[in-house]
Amino acid sequence: MNRNLELLNPAIMGDEQAMYELFRYLREHDPVSYVEHHNYEPFWAITRYEDIKFISQNNDRFINSPRTVLVQKQFEQVLLENFGSRNGLETLIHMDAPKHKKLRGVTREWFKPGPISKLSSTVKSIAKQYVDKMEARGGECDFVKEISLLYPLQVIMSIIGVPPEKEGMMLKLTQELFGGADPSQARGVNPEDALAVLMDFFAFFSEVVEDRKKNPKDDLATVLASALIDGEPMEQLDQISYFIITATAGHDTTAATVAGGLKALIEHPDQLQKLRDKPELCHSAAREMIRYTSPVRHMMRTTTQDEVFQGQTIKAGESICLWYPSANRDSTAITNPDVFDIERDNKSQLAFGFGSHMCLGQHLAILEVELFFRELLPRLKHIEFASEPEWVQAIFVGGLKSMPLRYEFN
Ligand code: HEM
Repeated sequence: MNRNLELLNPAIMGDEQAMYELFRYLREHDPVSYVEHHNYEPFWAITRYEDIKFISQNNDRFINSPRTVLVQKQFEQVLLENFGSRNGLETLIHMDAPKHKKLRGVTREWFKPGPISKLSSTVKSIAKQYVDKMEARGGECDFVKEISLLYPLQVIMSIIGVPPEKEGMMLKLTQELFGGADPSQARGVNPEDALAVLMDFFAFFSEVVEDRKKNPKDDLATVLASALIDGEPMEQLDQISYFIITATAGHDTTAATVAGGLKALIEHPDQLQKLRDKPELCHSAAREMIRYTSPVRHMMRTTTQDEVFQGQTIKAGESICLWYPSANRDSTAITNPDVFDIERDNKSQLAFGFGSHMCLGQHLAILEVELFFRELLPRLKHIEFASEPEWVQAIFVGGLKSMPLRYEFN
């Protein structure tokens, strides 16, 4: 059997060791690999750093709109029938120039480092609430279920302007959308159920837009509700899709990093001690946690002309899948990539992608991770695993599903 099929196996992709071993094999033996699986349209799997970076930064030759993530054929069919496109939604990540630039421009200022740093006190107080909650649990909790999944959700909801009482519903919807391949999280395995999840998002955010049109506030929802594109109000599908990408892209990804980052610290006591001794390293530690966990496993592009990579010809119109965790463990670009080093200079990592689609929320994500550990570590005396952590079995956004911990606060 061709090993590239393992990329589509949620059990392999939900097993950190097996996943990185597979990427190592593909980088060495099959770095531009044609994948044919009965449930998916074929695609080329790209696993080397240099190729992933080159493709990401040449957005005119490698476009997003035809196919952005790996979705099973039968679900793509349902999306085509219901939305007229195999992506279903029309979010930033599904668009190309010139529309992409115009829509990204609507929130570009919001997500720049300066404005994001002004959110520090809000993010810090939410981080404190969750560390307080950990302390109140009296020395044991499932860190993923009780802390890390909820913290970024609350941050993003407060920035968007969604009221706290709706957070439970948003958590459920994002898990149903992204954890779709994990039997314990998906609403169901059939496409109709997945479509129902999208419809629920649509209904929820339509209400938020209508409210902000009448009652403008100082939040991202108001920016989106009042945005003009070429002098005209944003179309409803664009608007709702914008909410969905911001809410979903900013949630599971950051949650996976906070939990994966803490797991890495527990597994590397020297790094944990260093971070306790020098809390000013929390910023670079956050960046390393993001590289080390690389929660977004892949994104796709489509070629606009014939291309050649590592001796393989990819024809115009074919799909390409970029595997970010693999790029971030490629020793040709990153020194000792399997080593977790909180002082690493992480300028070249690709966990946020690259080029014009590079993660819009990257500065917010780094801030959230940094501030959580700044709050937690000075209060923590001891921490260990209470039992084996478990992984989400998903091929798109990966991470931990459960991490029972035992700990002592000062
Ligand atoms: C896009 C990773 C957190 C919003 C992306 C992409 C990646 C990514 C890999 C695609 C880049 C490409 O195609 O070149 C991550 C990781 C995160 C994170 C690893 C956390 C550790 C966030 C947060 C937000 C966010 C907190 C927002 C609140 C977005 C949006 C896009 C995006 C809107 C689409 C940008 C576009 O297509 O122009 N992210 N992300 N992300 N991310 Fe993030």
